[in-house]
Order: sequence, then structure tokens, then C-alpha cells
Amino acid sequence: MEFGRGIILIYFDNAATSFPKPEVVYDKMDKFMRNKGANPGRAGHQLANAASREIFAVRELIADFFNIEDSAEVVFALNTTDALNLGIRGILTKGDHVIISSMEHNSVIRPLKHLEREGLIEISVVDCDYETGELLIADIESSIKDNTELIITTHASNVTGTLMPIKEIGQLANKKDINFMVDVAQTAGVYEIDVQKLNIDLMAFPGHKGLLGPQGVGGLYINKKLSLKSLRQGGTGSNSEAIYQPETIPDRYESGTPNGPGIVGLGAGINYILDKGIDNLRKHELELTEYLLEELIKIPEVKIYGPQDIDKQAAVISINIGREAASEVGFILDRAFNIGVRTGLHCSPLAHQTLGTDEQGTVRISPGIFNTKDDCEELLTAIRGIAKEVQG
Ligand SMILES: Cc1ncc(COP(=O)(O)O)c(C=O)c1O
Repeated sequence: MEFGRGIILIYFDNAATSFPKPEVVYDKMDKFMRNKGANPGRAGHQLANAASREIFAVRELIADFFNIEDSAEVVFALNTTDALNLGIRGILTKGDHVIISSMEHNSVIRPLKHLEREGLIEISVVDCDYETGELLIADIESSIKDNTELIITTHASNVTGTLMPIKEIGQLANKKDINFMVDVAQTAGVYEIDVQKLNIDLMAFPGHKGLLGPQGVGGLYINKKLSLKSLRQGGTGSNSEAIYQPETIPDRYESGTPNGPGIVGLGAGINYILDKGIDNLRKHELELTEYLLEELIKIPEVKIYGPQDIDKQAAVISINIGREAASEVGFILDRAFNIGVRTGLHCSPLAHQTLGTDEQGTVRISPGIFNTKDDCEELLTAIRGIAKEVQG
């Protein structure tokens, strides 16, 4: 695919940011900026109201999409990391205990580690399988203590794609009266997620990955039974007479001018998914993933990490070629073959410790909805070629 400034690249880095976006996303953002780009909720004039209505419509759309009871439980954020920080720092107080899996992203690990260093909380990390990255529910259960306030897991690992048993964890958390937070960075827009059926209390999602929106927008679902500390205080466009942050949701958690173009772009991405059918889009990604796995397994120098089973993983594959540094393989794929993948530790150091790849890193291949079988063929040809060199 040819991108601006003559960059021709086969893009296999959709786990970082999906690219390109459906045309409707670009169109919607452009039209919003040109026709309704006023400050939403900050004035009573027609343009401000029109912008507010567009943003409200997306809040409602997101609520429907994830079966969230009340759209006021949807809080817009900058990205998954921002949403995770609000959820983690907003809910935890001194003396709390938190359980996470060893496959979490730094966006979960770092805010927790900072709170731990301040002497505020304790963390238990449940080890996942060293080959597949899978999590055993019994290990979560045995880590629960009297002061466990929160269980956090990713829905799918961004390193191996491994799907976590969030249904079972949600049931356990519900039974034990512990809050359950899910990081759906790799699955929102790809897998059906019903926060009520899954007993999810907090859910952080990006706009820029599977939901097909632009960068700079994401969100946090906060079950309204929870009252979190706000992390940012400031203008909300509501209760302007009050010198303290309003208590009402979502205003309590959303200060400052929102990312209007980003939010409507996200709405267009979700509408595209609804139009095409989430199951059809996922089927396409998983068919490509399955094909890549089948062919990669045949290359003796290639080591694949993760379940190697599309019923157990999202469209994310991590590999290494012999002992070659992952960064070197990524460099060759980019410069010699015009193929874009991600290499290194993928912001998930504990996941790499789990898999034993903390030195070498991995080469991550993440197909998206616009990749084709031909893209896969080109990638496989390139990998076979690199594998031969490594052997020689
Ligand atoms: C599992 C997981 N969590 C969190 C993040 C952080 O997402 P964002 O870049 O939207 O902050 C990512 C991004 O790759 C991820 O894959």
C-alpha cells in the first residue's frame, strides 16, 4: 500500500495502532472540523450545541456497543494508558491489594508500581504459562486476600495475543465482591464485549486500535456504583459557579476541552464495525493469523510464542528467527522488504520475563482488517529468506 511521501509499506503493526482507517473516519473528522469545530458544552450557541450533540451521540454509541447501562458511565480519555491511570489511581486507596497477571502492559504495571513505591498498595502478580501466556483462574483465586480491592487483567496480551479468561475472572471477582478492571486495548472492536454479562466494573479502551478511530482518544467505562477520585480538575462546562470539581458523571472525570474530532472519528470507526459486522471483521483477521501460524510453524528457524491457536488468541503473533535480535529482523523487514512490524519488548517487561524473551525481544506481527493474503505471502517470503541467512 502506498502512503503519503512515497512510503510503500505492508503494514503489520495493527496491535500498536490500526492503519489505515476506513475512509468514513477521515471524512467524518474532516467534516466535523470544518462544520462543527466549536467548543462543545462551553456555550449555548448553535455551533457549540451541534458539537455537543455529536459527542453525546458517540458516548451513547459506545454505551450500546459494550452494553453499558448508562452512557454517563463512559468517560473519554486520551488513550488506554490515560484511562487505566484514571481507573487505577482513582479507585485505589492506602492499604489496598491488587492482583494482576504477568502478561500486563506497562500501562497497568507502572501506575501500580508507583503507588507501591509510595507505600500505598500491595501487588500480586499471577504468573502465566511460559509458552502460551495463558492464565489459570485458580492462581487468581489463591492470590485473593482480605484487602484485595481490585483484579486487573488484559483481555488479550499485546505480545502473544493470548486471550485471558475474563468471563471466569469476572464471575470470581463478583462472588468475592472485588472490583474487576479489564484492559481491552487489543480486543475492543474485534471481540464482542458486554460489560454487564462479564461483571466488569472498569474497562479501559483505546480509540485508535480495533475501534478504528484516530490516535488521541480512548475511554474508561466506570460502573456508576463506583466513586473514583478525579485525577484532573478544571473546566467541565457544567456547574461553572462551583470552585470544586462537580460530582456528576461523566463531568467529574472529564476536565478541559474534549478531543471533538477524535471522538467523532471514533464514532465513525464504531459505525463502520457495526456496518461490516464485528464477527466478519474478526473472522478476516483470524483467518490471516491462522494462515501465518500454519506457514510459520513450517520454518524450522522460527520460534513462535503464544497459544498458536486462533480460538485462544487475538490477531497478534510473536516470533523470533534463530538467535537473531528481534530488532535486527524488524530492521531487515522494513528496509529490505518494506514490511512494518513491531520489535522489542512491546512495553510489557513481565510478559517477556514470562516467555524468556527479555533479552532477545520478539518480532510482533499483527494483521488488521485491511491486510490481505498477498500481504501474508510477502511477509512469509521475507521471513523464509531471513531464516535462510540466519542458518547460513
Ligand atoms: C494491552 C495493552 N494495554 C495498554 C496499551 C496502551 O495503549 P495506548 O497506547 O492506547 O495508551 C496497549 C498498547 O499497545 C496494549 O496493547
